[in-house]
Amino acid sequence: MSTPVPVRGKTGVSIKRTEGPDPGVEAIRAKDPVTIVIFGASGDLAKRKLLPALYHLHCGGYLPERYAVVGFSRTRLSDDAYRDSMLTALHAQVPGETIAADHPIVQALYYQPGDADDPQTFQALRSRLEKIEQERGLPGNRLFYLSVAPEFFPLILENLAAAGLIRQKSDAVWSRVIIEKPFGTDLASARALNAIVAATLDESQIYRIDHYLGKETVQNILSFRFGNSIFEPLFNQKYVDNVQITVAEELGMEGRRGAYYDGAGTIRDMVQNHILQLFCLIAMEPPSALEAQAIRDEKVKVLRALVPMTRKEVAANTVRGQYGMGEKGGQVVKGYRQEDGVDPQSITETFLALRMKVDNWRWAGVPFFLRSGKRLAKRVSEIVVEFKQPPLHLFRYLGDKDDAIVARPMSNVIVMRIQPDEGISLSIACKQPGMRIHLQEVEMDFFYGEAFHERSPEAYERLLLDALRGDASLFTRSDEVEYSWRFVTAILDAWADLPPPGFPNYYPFSDGPDEANRLLAGTQARWRPLRES
Ligand code: BG6
Repeated sequence: MSTPVPVRGKTGVSIKRTEGPDPGVEAIRAKDPVTIVIFGASGDLAKRKLLPALYHLHCGGYLPERYAVVGFSRTRLSDDAYRDSMLTALHAQVPGETIAADHPIVQALYYQPGDADDPQTFQALRSRLEKIEQERGLPGNRLFYLSVAPEFFPLILENLAAAGLIRQKSDAVWSRVIIEKPFGTDLASARALNAIVAATLDESQIYRIDHYLGKETVQNILSFRFGNSIFEPLFNQKYVDNVQITVAEELGMEGRRGAYYDGAGTIRDMVQNHILQLFCLIAMEPPSALEAQAIRDEKVKVLRALVPMTRKEVAANTVRGQYGMGEKGGQVVKGYRQEDGVDPQSITETFLALRMKVDNWRWAGVPFFLRSGKRLAKRVSEIVVEFKQPPLHLFRYLGDKDDAIVARPMSNVIVMRIQPDEGISLSIACKQPGMRIHLQEVEMDFFYGEAFHERSPEAYERLLLDALRGDASLFTRSDEVEYSWRFVTAILDAWADLPPPGFPNYYPFSDGPDEANRLLAGTQARWRPLRES
C-alpha cells in the first residue's frame, strides 16, 4: 500500500448534502411503558454509559411516556443515595448541561440491594418491581440489563426465572435481557452459556450487546456498501487485493482492568467480538431486508466461511505482542507486566495481528489482515479496502532515478474511519499538471463532522433504544457468537501448544511489534502507519 502524499491547501471534495424526509422521533421512539432493571447498578458501565444514554434518550423524546429504572447490586443503598450518586455521574458525563435532582430521569431511579446468588433477593426484587410498577402505572414490560462480571450471568438468569421474573414470549407483557460481553471465554463456555440462556429465554428475548455495532460509523458500513451501487460490485476477489481492519488504542490497563485483561488478552477482549463484527459487516453478502433475522443470517454465513486454522496456520498467520516499559513526554510508562493485577510473568497478548482467509466465492484468495492492541501510537479504528493495481502499468516512468517515486504502482484505497475523525476517504491516481504524465495519488475525504451537524448518538443510546423497541438487528445471535468462538478457539488452542512468545516485544506508543510485517509477505499490503492513519 502506498503512503498518500499530503496535498497542500484545501483537500478533498466538497460535501453537498441532500435533505431527505425526516420521519421524526415519533416513528422510532420506544412506546411500551417499561421497567429497566440494571444489574451492576453502581458499576462503571452504569455510570459512564447507561445512565448518560438513558438521559439523552429521555431528552430526545425516545423513551416511553412512563418508565422506571431500578438499580440492583450488592451495595446497600437507599433510593435517594442511588439518585445522588447517579446524578453526580451524570454531571461528570454530560458536562455543560444543568441536570437538577428533580429531573424526570433522576426521579425515575430506584434502588434494590441484593446478591446475584441469593434467590431470596430475587423474590424481594419481584415485590419491589410490582410495587414500583403499580405506583407508576407500568404494565410489567421489563428490560433486564446484566452489566456484571460474566460468572454471574448464569446465576442471574436462573434466579430471574425461578422468581417468575421472566415472562413467556407469548405473554401480553414482555421480558428482555441484555447481556454484556464477554459472552464465554471459548467455544465450549459460549455454548454452555447459550444453553443456559435457551433454558430461560426465547432467542428473541435475549440481546447480546456488542457496543461497536451501536457506533454510528459502524452502522454506516452497511449503508455505504448497500446504499450505493458504485462500490458494491467491486467488493470481491476480482477487484480487491486485501482488506485491513485496525482497532488501535493508546490506553493501557486503566484502573483495575489488569486483572480482567490478563485472563482475556486482545483476542478475547477485542477480536472475538468487536473486530469480527466489523469483519462481518465489510465481508457479508447483502441481506434481503434490513431486519434482524436477514442481517444476522448473512453475518453467520460469512463467519462460517472463516475456517478454523490448524496449528501450523496459526503459527504462520498470527503475531502476538505485549508492550514493555517505556517513556512518554519525560514520564516513565509501565510495561504490561508491571500493571496492577497483571502476573509479572504474564504471556497475555496486548497486541495481535492476524491474517485470515475467507473461504467463499466472493473473497477466495483475498487476505484479511486484522490488527488490534493497547498502548499503540494512536487511537484509531478503521477498515481499509485496497484494490488491485491496474493490470498494466502504463504510467511507469522510465527516466532518471529522481522521478522513480512517481512511477510506483498505485492502487485505489477506501478507508472507512470508525473513530476518531469519523469519515470515508478514497484515494485515486491523477495526472499531476505539467508537460509529462506523472501520476499523483490524491484523496477524496468525507468527514462526518463537516457533512452533518447533528449530534451522533452514543452507541449505548442506539442499542438501548433498539432493545426497548424489540429490534435485535444490532445484537449478536447465538450461532453468530458460536461461529466467532469456533474461529478464535482454534487460535487459542494452537497458542497453548506453541512455544511461549518472547515478551515484551513492543515499545509503548509504537505501531506494535515489527514482526507483524511478516504476515504481509507475498502481498501488496502494508500496515498503515498508525500516526498517519
Ligand atoms: C471494550 C474492551 O469492549 O472496548 C476494552 O473491553 C476497549 O478493552 C473498548 O478499550 C474499546 O471501545 P471503544 O468504544 O473505546 O473503541
